[in-house]
Amino acid sequence: MSVPIGIHDLSFATTEFVLPHAALAEYNGTDIGKYHVGIGQESMSVPAADEDIVTMGAAAAAPVIARHGTSRIRTVVFATESSIDQAKSAGVYVHSLLGLQPACRVVELKQACYGATAALQFAIGLVRRDLAQQVLVIASDVSKYELDSPGEATQGAAAVAMLVGADPALVRIEEPSGLFTADVMDFWRPNYREAALVDGQESINAYLQAVEGTWKDYAEQDGYPLEEFAAFVYHQPFTKMAYKAHRHLLDFCGTATDEDAIARALGQTTAYNTVIGNSYTASVYLGLAALLDQADDLTGRPVGLLSYGSGSVAEFFAGTVVAGYRGHLRTAANHEAIARRTPVDYVGYRALHERSFPADGGDHRAPAQTTGPFRLAGISGHKRLYEAR
Ligand code: HMG
Repeated sequence: MSVPIGIHDLSFATTEFVLPHAALAEYNGTDIGKYHVGIGQESMSVPAADEDIVTMGAAAAAPVIARHGTSRIRTVVFATESSIDQAKSAGVYVHSLLGLQPACRVVELKQACYGATAALQFAIGLVRRDLAQQVLVIASDVSKYELDSPGEATQGAAAVAMLVGADPALVRIEEPSGLFTADVMDFWRPNYREAALVDGQESINAYLQAVEGTWKDYAEQDGYPLEEFAAFVYHQPFTKMAYKAHRHLLDFCGTATDEDAIARALGQTTAYNTVIGNSYTASVYLGLAALLDQADDLTGRPVGLLSYGSGSVAEFFAGTVVAGYRGHLRTAANHEAIARRTPVDYVGYRALHERSFPADGGDHRAPAQTTGPFRLAGISGHKRLYEAR
Protein backbone atom coordinates (compact mmCIF):
# COMPACT_ATOMS: atom_id res chain seq x y z
CA MET A 1 0.00 0.00 0.00
CA SER A 2 1.35 3.46 -0.87
CA VAL A 3 2.29 5.95 1.84
CA PRO A 4 -0.70 8.10 2.88
CA ILE A 5 -0.50 11.78 1.90
CA GLY A 6 -2.78 14.56 3.01
CA ILE A 7 -3.40 17.47 5.36
CA HIS A 8 -0.86 17.52 8.17
CA ASP A 9 -1.91 20.86 9.66
CA LEU A 10 -4.79 23.27 9.01
CA SER A 11 -4.98 26.85 10.26
CA PHE A 12 -7.13 29.80 9.29
CA ALA A 13 -7.28 33.57 9.68
CA THR A 14 -9.96 36.10 8.92
CA THR A 15 -10.33 39.85 9.14
CA GLU A 16 -10.26 42.66 11.70
CA PHE A 17 -13.90 43.62 11.20
CA VAL A 18 -17.27 41.89 10.97
CA LEU A 19 -20.62 43.13 9.65
CA PRO A 20 -23.64 41.42 11.23
CA HIS A 21 -26.34 40.65 8.68
CA ALA A 22 -28.76 42.39 11.05
CA ALA A 23 -26.99 45.69 10.19
CA LEU A 24 -27.30 45.00 6.46
CA ALA A 25 -30.97 44.03 6.84
CA GLU A 26 -31.70 47.20 8.81
CA TYR A 27 -30.04 49.33 6.11
CA ASN A 28 -31.76 47.74 3.09
CA GLY A 29 -35.10 46.82 4.71
CA THR A 30 -34.74 43.07 4.17
CA ASP A 31 -36.53 40.69 6.55
CA ILE A 32 -33.68 39.25 8.63
CA GLY A 33 -35.21 35.78 8.14
CA LYS A 34 -34.02 35.88 4.53
CA TYR A 35 -30.41 36.16 5.70
CA HIS A 36 -30.50 34.03 8.85
CA VAL A 37 -32.77 31.27 7.49
CA GLY A 38 -33.05 31.77 3.70
CA ILE A 39 -29.31 31.88 2.96
CA GLY A 40 -28.05 30.73 6.39
CA GLN A 41 -25.72 33.64 7.17
CA GLU A 42 -25.30 35.56 10.45
CA SER A 43 -22.41 37.88 9.65
CA MET A 44 -19.55 38.45 7.24
CA SER A 45 -15.88 39.24 7.69
CA VAL A 46 -14.78 42.65 6.41
CA PRO A 47 -11.09 43.40 5.76
CA ALA A 48 -9.55 46.49 7.36
CA ALA A 49 -7.96 49.09 5.05
CA ASP A 50 -4.55 47.50 5.75
CA GLU A 51 -5.59 43.87 5.23
CA ASP A 52 -5.69 41.85 2.02
CA ILE A 53 -5.09 38.29 0.74
CA VAL A 54 -1.39 38.51 1.64
CA THR A 55 -1.87 39.62 5.26
CA MET A 56 -4.61 37.01 5.81
CA GLY A 57 -2.58 34.29 4.09
CA ALA A 58 0.51 35.05 6.17
CA ALA A 59 -1.57 35.18 9.37
CA ALA A 60 -3.08 31.77 8.56
CA ALA A 61 0.29 30.21 7.73
CA ALA A 62 2.38 31.69 10.58
CA PRO A 63 1.13 29.20 13.24
CA VAL A 64 1.81 26.30 10.83
CA ILE A 65 5.41 27.49 10.40
CA ALA A 66 5.74 28.03 14.17
CA ARG A 67 4.69 24.43 14.80
CA HIS A 68 6.51 22.63 11.98
CA GLY A 69 9.40 24.88 10.91
CA THR A 70 10.39 25.71 7.35
CA SER A 71 13.05 23.13 6.47
CA ARG A 72 10.81 20.66 4.60
CA ILE A 73 8.77 23.27 2.71
CA ARG A 74 10.12 23.52 -0.84
CA THR A 75 6.85 24.63 -2.49
CA VAL A 76 4.21 27.23 -1.65
CA VAL A 77 1.02 27.25 -3.70
CA PHE A 78 -1.16 30.31 -3.16
CA ALA A 79 -4.73 29.82 -4.42
CA THR A 80 -6.82 32.93 -4.87
CA GLU A 81 -9.28 34.69 -7.14
CA SER A 82 -8.70 38.08 -5.46
CA SER A 83 -5.26 38.48 -6.97
CA ILE A 84 -3.35 41.71 -6.25
CA ASP A 85 -0.95 41.50 -9.19
CA GLN A 86 -1.12 40.09 -12.70
CA ALA A 87 2.48 38.86 -12.61
CA LYS A 88 3.87 38.40 -9.10
CA SER A 89 2.43 35.64 -6.93
CA ALA A 90 0.90 36.81 -3.66
CA GLY A 91 2.73 33.80 -2.20
CA VAL A 92 6.11 35.49 -2.73
CA TYR A 93 5.12 38.25 -0.28
CA VAL A 94 4.03 35.57 2.22
CA HIS A 95 7.29 33.67 1.65
CA SER A 96 9.13 36.85 2.63
CA LEU A 97 6.92 37.76 5.61
CA LEU A 98 7.31 34.23 7.04
CA GLY A 99 11.05 33.92 6.36
CA LEU A 100 10.75 30.77 4.26
CA GLN A 101 13.96 29.38 2.74
CA PRO A 102 15.09 30.69 -0.69
CA ALA A 103 15.27 27.07 -1.98
CA CYS A 104 11.53 27.10 -2.58
CA ARG A 105 9.15 27.40 -5.56
CA VAL A 106 6.21 29.75 -5.10
CA VAL A 107 3.28 30.02 -7.46
CA GLU A 108 -0.28 31.41 -7.60
CA LEU A 109 -3.19 29.33 -8.83
CA LYS A 110 -6.66 30.38 -10.03
CA GLN A 111 -9.98 28.78 -10.89
CA ALA A 112 -12.52 30.69 -8.82
CA CYS A 113 -13.33 28.93 -5.54
CA TYR A 114 -11.91 25.62 -6.80
CA GLY A 115 -8.27 26.85 -6.75
CA ALA A 116 -7.38 25.53 -3.28
CA THR A 117 -8.47 22.02 -4.17
CA ALA A 118 -6.34 22.11 -7.32
CA ALA A 119 -3.47 23.30 -5.09
CA LEU A 120 -4.07 20.45 -2.63
CA GLN A 121 -4.11 17.82 -5.38
CA PHE A 122 -1.00 19.25 -7.08
CA ALA A 123 0.72 19.33 -3.68
CA ILE A 124 -0.04 15.64 -3.20
CA GLY A 125 1.61 14.92 -6.57
CA LEU A 126 4.75 16.81 -5.49
CA VAL A 127 4.92 15.01 -2.15
CA ARG A 128 4.47 11.67 -3.93
CA ARG A 129 7.71 12.45 -5.88
CA ASP A 130 9.66 13.06 -2.66
CA LEU A 131 7.99 11.96 0.56
CA ALA A 132 10.38 14.06 2.68
CA GLN A 133 9.02 17.32 1.25
CA GLN A 134 6.04 19.30 2.47
CA VAL A 135 3.97 21.77 0.47
CA LEU A 136 2.40 24.85 2.03
CA VAL A 137 -0.99 25.46 0.42
CA ILE A 138 -2.56 28.83 1.14
CA ALA A 139 -6.11 29.72 0.06
CA SER A 140 -6.92 33.38 0.63
CA ASP A 141 -9.77 35.49 -0.72
CA VAL A 142 -11.87 38.58 -0.29
CA SER A 143 -15.37 38.04 -1.66
CA LYS A 144 -16.68 41.33 -2.99
CA TYR A 145 -19.92 42.09 -4.83
CA GLU A 146 -21.49 45.42 -5.78
CA LEU A 147 -23.10 47.38 -2.93
CA ASP A 148 -26.90 47.08 -2.96
CA SER A 149 -26.80 43.97 -5.17
CA PRO A 150 -28.28 40.56 -4.23
CA GLY A 151 -24.72 39.22 -3.92
CA GLU A 152 -23.88 41.76 -1.19
CA ALA A 153 -25.22 39.47 1.54
CA THR A 154 -22.89 36.67 0.43
CA GLN A 155 -19.55 38.46 0.88
CA GLY A 156 -16.81 37.58 3.36
CA ALA A 157 -13.05 37.05 3.61
CA ALA A 158 -10.63 34.50 5.09
CA ALA A 159 -7.49 32.49 4.46
CA VAL A 160 -6.69 28.86 5.16
CA ALA A 161 -3.18 27.42 5.33
CA MET A 162 -2.66 23.68 4.91
CA LEU A 163 0.60 21.82 5.29
CA VAL A 164 0.51 18.87 2.90
CA GLY A 165 2.82 15.93 3.50
CA ALA A 166 3.28 12.18 3.91
CA ASP A 167 1.80 10.44 6.97
CA PRO A 168 -0.50 13.40 7.70
CA ALA A 169 -1.67 14.09 11.24
CA LEU A 170 -5.20 15.17 10.27
CA VAL A 171 -6.71 13.89 7.03
CA ARG A 172 -5.48 11.41 4.41
CA ILE A 173 -6.64 12.44 0.92
CA GLU A 174 -7.95 9.43 -0.98
CA GLU A 175 -8.27 8.46 -4.61
CA PRO A 176 -10.29 8.55 -6.79
CA SER A 177 -11.52 12.08 -7.45
CA GLY A 178 -14.74 12.80 -9.30
CA LEU A 179 -14.10 15.66 -11.74
CA PHE A 180 -16.38 18.02 -13.66
CA THR A 181 -15.75 21.03 -15.91
CA ALA A 182 -18.37 23.03 -17.85
CA ASP A 183 -17.96 26.40 -19.60
CA VAL A 184 -20.66 28.52 -17.89
CA MET A 185 -20.89 32.25 -17.16
CA ASP A 186 -22.42 32.00 -13.70
CA PHE A 187 -19.89 34.18 -11.88
CA TRP A 188 -16.80 35.97 -13.16
CA ARG A 189 -14.62 39.03 -12.57
CA PRO A 190 -12.94 40.73 -15.55
CA ASN A 191 -9.48 42.15 -14.78
CA TYR A 192 -10.78 45.74 -14.76
CA ARG A 193 -13.35 45.09 -12.01
CA GLU A 194 -12.96 44.83 -8.23
CA ALA A 195 -16.40 43.34 -7.63
CA ALA A 196 -17.51 40.04 -9.16
CA LEU A 197 -20.36 39.78 -11.65
CA VAL A 198 -22.85 37.02 -10.98
CA ASP A 199 -26.05 35.50 -12.28
CA GLY A 200 -27.34 34.26 -8.91
CA GLN A 201 -29.84 31.62 -10.03
CA GLU A 202 -27.58 30.42 -12.84
CA SER A 203 -24.74 30.04 -10.33
CA ILE A 204 -26.87 27.86 -8.05
CA ASN A 205 -27.95 25.69 -10.99
CA ALA A 206 -24.36 25.42 -12.26
CA TYR A 207 -23.21 24.35 -8.77
CA LEU A 208 -25.91 21.66 -8.63
CA GLN A 209 -25.01 20.37 -12.11
CA ALA A 210 -21.40 20.14 -10.94
CA VAL A 211 -22.40 18.15 -7.83
CA GLU A 212 -24.14 15.68 -10.10
CA GLY A 213 -21.24 15.57 -12.57
CA THR A 214 -18.53 15.00 -9.96
CA TRP A 215 -20.51 12.30 -8.19
CA LYS A 216 -21.20 10.48 -11.46
CA ASP A 217 -17.47 10.44 -12.27
CA TYR A 218 -16.59 9.47 -8.68
CA ALA A 219 -19.05 6.58 -8.63
CA GLU A 220 -17.87 5.34 -12.04
CA GLN A 221 -14.40 4.98 -10.54
CA ASP A 222 -15.70 2.90 -7.63
CA GLY A 223 -15.35 5.49 -4.89
CA TYR A 224 -17.00 4.95 -1.51
CA PRO A 225 -20.77 4.45 -1.60
CA LEU A 226 -22.80 7.40 -0.30
CA GLU A 227 -23.67 5.75 3.02
CA GLU A 228 -19.98 5.23 3.98
CA PHE A 229 -19.34 8.94 4.50
CA ALA A 230 -19.39 10.27 8.07
CA ALA A 231 -20.13 13.80 6.79
CA PHE A 232 -20.12 15.91 3.62
CA VAL A 233 -18.17 19.17 3.43
CA TYR A 234 -19.37 21.41 0.59
CA HIS A 235 -18.06 24.70 -0.75
CA GLN A 236 -20.28 27.21 1.08
CA PRO A 237 -20.84 30.54 -0.70
CA PHE A 238 -23.67 30.77 1.85
CA THR A 239 -24.34 27.88 4.18
CA LYS A 240 -27.81 27.03 2.78
CA MET A 241 -26.05 26.16 -0.49
CA ALA A 242 -24.54 23.08 1.18
CA TYR A 243 -28.07 21.87 2.01
CA LYS A 244 -29.29 22.51 -1.55
CA ALA A 245 -26.28 20.62 -2.88
CA HIS A 246 -26.68 17.63 -0.59
CA ARG A 247 -30.41 17.32 -1.28
CA HIS A 248 -29.61 17.40 -4.98
CA LEU A 249 -27.00 14.66 -4.57
CA LEU A 250 -29.42 12.45 -2.63
CA ASP A 251 -32.12 12.99 -5.27
CA PHE A 252 -29.65 12.18 -8.03
CA CYS A 253 -28.69 8.95 -6.24
CA GLY A 254 -32.35 8.06 -5.69
CA THR A 255 -31.91 8.12 -1.91
CA ALA A 256 -34.77 9.29 0.28
CA THR A 257 -34.29 12.87 1.46
CA ASP A 258 -34.45 12.55 5.23
CA GLU A 259 -33.99 16.06 6.72
CA ASP A 260 -32.56 14.70 10.01
CA ALA A 261 -29.97 12.66 8.12
CA ILE A 262 -29.04 15.76 6.05
CA ALA A 263 -28.64 17.80 9.22
CA ARG A 264 -26.39 15.09 10.69
CA ALA A 265 -24.28 14.95 7.52
CA LEU A 266 -23.80 18.74 7.20
CA GLY A 267 -24.69 20.40 10.49
CA GLN A 268 -21.17 20.52 11.91
CA THR A 269 -19.56 21.86 8.72
CA THR A 270 -21.23 25.29 8.65
CA ALA A 271 -20.30 26.90 12.00
CA TYR A 272 -17.38 28.98 10.71
CA ASN A 273 -18.80 29.85 7.27
CA THR A 274 -22.07 31.09 8.74
CA VAL A 275 -20.24 33.89 10.60
CA ILE A 276 -17.35 34.49 8.14
CA GLY A 277 -19.33 34.48 4.88
CA ASN A 278 -18.00 33.42 1.50
CA SER A 279 -14.23 33.08 1.51
CA TYR A 280 -14.12 31.57 -2.01
CA THR A 281 -11.05 29.24 -2.14
CA ALA A 282 -10.89 28.87 1.65
CA SER A 283 -14.58 28.10 2.14
CA VAL A 284 -14.64 24.29 1.84
CA TYR A 285 -11.58 23.99 4.12
CA LEU A 286 -13.20 26.23 6.75
CA GLY A 287 -16.04 23.70 6.55
CA LEU A 288 -13.57 20.89 7.15
CA ALA A 289 -12.02 22.75 10.11
CA ALA A 290 -15.47 23.28 11.66
CA LEU A 291 -16.30 19.59 11.27
CA LEU A 292 -13.03 18.36 12.79
CA ASP A 293 -13.33 20.86 15.66
CA GLN A 294 -16.90 19.90 16.56
CA ALA A 295 -17.62 16.29 15.61
CA ASP A 296 -17.39 13.30 17.90
CA ASP A 297 -14.37 11.14 17.15
CA LEU A 298 -14.09 10.73 13.36
CA THR A 299 -11.02 8.49 13.43
CA GLY A 300 -10.87 6.22 10.38
CA ARG A 301 -14.08 7.69 8.87
CA PRO A 302 -14.17 9.05 5.32
CA VAL A 303 -15.53 12.57 4.84
CA GLY A 304 -16.78 13.66 1.39
CA LEU A 305 -15.45 17.00 0.13
CA LEU A 306 -17.07 18.90 -2.73
CA SER A 307 -15.12 21.81 -4.12
CA TYR A 308 -16.89 24.07 -6.65
CA GLY A 309 -15.43 27.03 -8.53
CA SER A 310 -17.66 29.06 -10.82
CA GLY A 311 -16.97 29.07 -14.49
CA SER A 312 -16.90 26.08 -13.66
CA VAL A 313 -14.65 23.34 -12.27
CA ALA A 314 -15.56 20.98 -9.44
CA GLU A 315 -14.12 17.96 -7.67
CA PHE A 316 -15.56 15.43 -5.24
CA PHE A 317 -13.12 13.37 -3.19
CA ALA A 318 -12.79 11.61 0.14
CA GLY A 319 -10.56 12.50 3.06
CA THR A 320 -10.13 9.89 5.79
CA VAL A 321 -9.60 11.23 9.28
CA VAL A 322 -6.39 9.95 10.87
CA ALA A 323 -6.00 8.39 14.35
CA GLY A 324 -4.82 10.95 16.91
CA TYR A 325 -6.04 13.93 14.84
CA ARG A 326 -7.66 15.63 17.81
CA GLY A 327 -4.28 16.33 19.37
CA HIS A 328 -3.35 18.42 16.30
CA LEU A 329 -6.47 20.60 15.93
CA ARG A 330 -6.46 24.36 16.44
CA THR A 331 -9.95 24.66 17.87
CA ALA A 332 -9.21 27.41 20.43
CA ALA A 333 -7.26 29.50 17.89
CA ASN A 334 -10.06 29.05 15.34
CA HIS A 335 -12.66 30.32 17.81
CA GLU A 336 -10.38 33.24 18.70
CA ALA A 337 -9.91 34.20 15.02
CA ILE A 338 -13.66 34.66 14.82
CA ALA A 339 -14.25 36.16 18.27
CA ARG A 340 -11.49 38.80 17.97
CA ARG A 341 -13.21 40.62 15.09
CA THR A 342 -14.65 44.04 15.86
CA PRO A 343 -18.21 44.73 14.65
CA VAL A 344 -18.38 47.53 12.10
CA ASP A 345 -21.57 49.48 11.40
CA TYR A 346 -23.09 49.69 7.93
CA VAL A 347 -21.60 53.13 7.20
CA GLY A 348 -18.12 51.97 8.22
CA TYR A 349 -18.44 48.81 6.13
CA ARG A 350 -19.58 50.82 3.10
CA ALA A 351 -16.59 53.15 3.39
CA LEU A 352 -14.21 50.16 3.53
CA HIS A 353 -15.98 48.57 0.57
CA GLU A 354 -15.57 51.69 -1.57
CA ARG A 355 -11.96 52.29 -0.56
CA SER A 356 -9.10 51.61 -2.99
CA PHE A 357 -5.58 52.93 -3.46
CA PRO A 358 -5.09 55.57 -6.17
CA ALA A 359 -3.43 54.04 -9.24
CA ASP A 360 -1.15 57.07 -9.85
CA GLY A 361 2.12 55.50 -8.66
CA GLY A 362 2.30 57.94 -5.73
CA ASP A 363 3.13 57.24 -2.10
CA HIS A 364 -0.09 56.20 -0.36
CA ARG A 365 -0.13 54.98 3.24
CA ALA A 366 -2.91 52.74 4.57
CA PRO A 367 -4.50 53.75 7.88
CA ALA A 368 -3.32 51.51 10.73
CA GLN A 369 -6.45 49.48 11.52
CA THR A 370 -5.60 45.81 11.79
CA THR A 371 -4.48 44.28 15.07
CA GLY A 372 -3.40 41.13 13.21
CA PRO A 373 0.22 40.00 12.87
CA PHE A 374 0.79 41.47 9.38
CA ARG A 375 -0.38 44.60 7.60
CA LEU A 376 -0.35 46.26 4.22
CA ALA A 377 1.48 49.49 5.10
CA GLY A 378 0.72 51.19 1.80
CA ILE A 379 1.56 51.39 -1.85
CA SER A 380 4.44 53.39 -3.30
CA GLY A 381 5.66 53.58 -6.89
CA HIS A 382 3.01 50.94 -7.69
CA LYS A 383 4.65 48.56 -5.16
CA ARG A 384 2.73 47.08 -2.25
CA LEU A 385 4.53 47.42 1.07
CA TYR A 386 3.89 44.81 3.76
CA GLU A 387 5.13 44.68 7.33
CA ALA A 388 4.91 42.45 10.39
CA ARG A 389 3.30 44.21 13.33
P1 HMG B 1 -31.68 36.73 -3.74
O1 HMG B 1 -32.40 36.97 -5.01
O2 HMG B 1 -31.34 37.90 -2.93
O3 HMG B 1 -32.46 35.78 -2.76
O4 HMG B 1 -30.36 35.94 -4.13
P2 HMG B 1 -33.74 34.83 -2.98
O5 HMG B 1 -34.94 35.64 -3.28
O6 HMG B 1 -33.36 33.73 -3.94
O7 HMG B 1 -33.85 34.25 -1.50
C1 HMG B 1 -32.85 33.46 -0.97
C2 HMG B 1 -33.56 32.39 -0.10
O8 HMG B 1 -34.10 33.02 1.06
C3 HMG B 1 -34.73 31.69 -0.80
O9 HMG B 1 -34.71 30.35 -0.37
C4 HMG B 1 -35.94 32.40 -0.22
O10 HMG B 1 -37.12 31.62 -0.24
C5 HMG B 1 -35.48 32.63 1.20
P3 HMG B 1 -34.61 29.14 -1.45
O11 HMG B 1 -35.76 29.28 -2.37
O12 HMG B 1 -33.31 29.37 -2.19
O13 HMG B 1 -34.60 27.93 -0.60
N1 HMG B 1 -36.17 33.72 1.90
C6 HMG B 1 -36.53 33.67 3.19
N2 HMG B 1 -36.40 32.69 4.11
C7 HMG B 1 -36.86 32.95 5.37
N3 HMG B 1 -37.45 34.13 5.72
C8 HMG B 1 -37.60 35.12 4.83
C9 HMG B 1 -37.16 34.91 3.49
N4 HMG B 1 -37.12 35.66 2.37
C10 HMG B 1 -36.53 34.92 1.40
N5 HMG B 1 -38.19 36.27 5.19
C11 HMG B 1 -28.36 34.70 -4.02
C12 HMG B 1 -29.66 35.02 -3.32
C13 HMG B 1 -27.62 33.63 -3.25
C14 HMG B 1 -28.63 34.20 -5.45
C15 HMG B 1 -27.51 36.01 -4.09
O14 HMG B 1 -27.14 36.38 -2.80
C16 HMG B 1 -26.27 35.87 -4.95
O15 HMG B 1 -26.32 36.11 -6.16
N6 HMG B 1 -25.10 35.53 -4.33
C17 HMG B 1 -23.85 35.33 -5.06
C18 HMG B 1 -23.83 34.07 -5.89
C19 HMG B 1 -23.71 32.80 -5.09
O16 HMG B 1 -23.32 32.78 -3.95
N7 HMG B 1 -23.98 31.66 -5.76
C20 HMG B 1 -23.85 30.35 -5.14
C21 HMG B 1 -23.46 29.26 -6.12
S1 HMG B 1 -22.04 29.72 -7.11
C22 HMG B 1 -20.67 29.43 -6.06
O17 HMG B 1 -20.77 28.81 -5.06
C23 HMG B 1 -19.36 30.00 -6.51
C24 HMG B 1 -18.94 31.27 -5.82
O18 HMG B 1 -18.50 30.99 -4.50
C25 HMG B 1 -17.84 31.97 -6.62
C26 HMG B 1 -16.60 31.18 -7.01
O19 HMG B 1 -16.62 30.03 -7.36
O20 HMG B 1 -15.56 31.84 -7.05
C27 HMG B 1 -20.08 32.28 -5.72
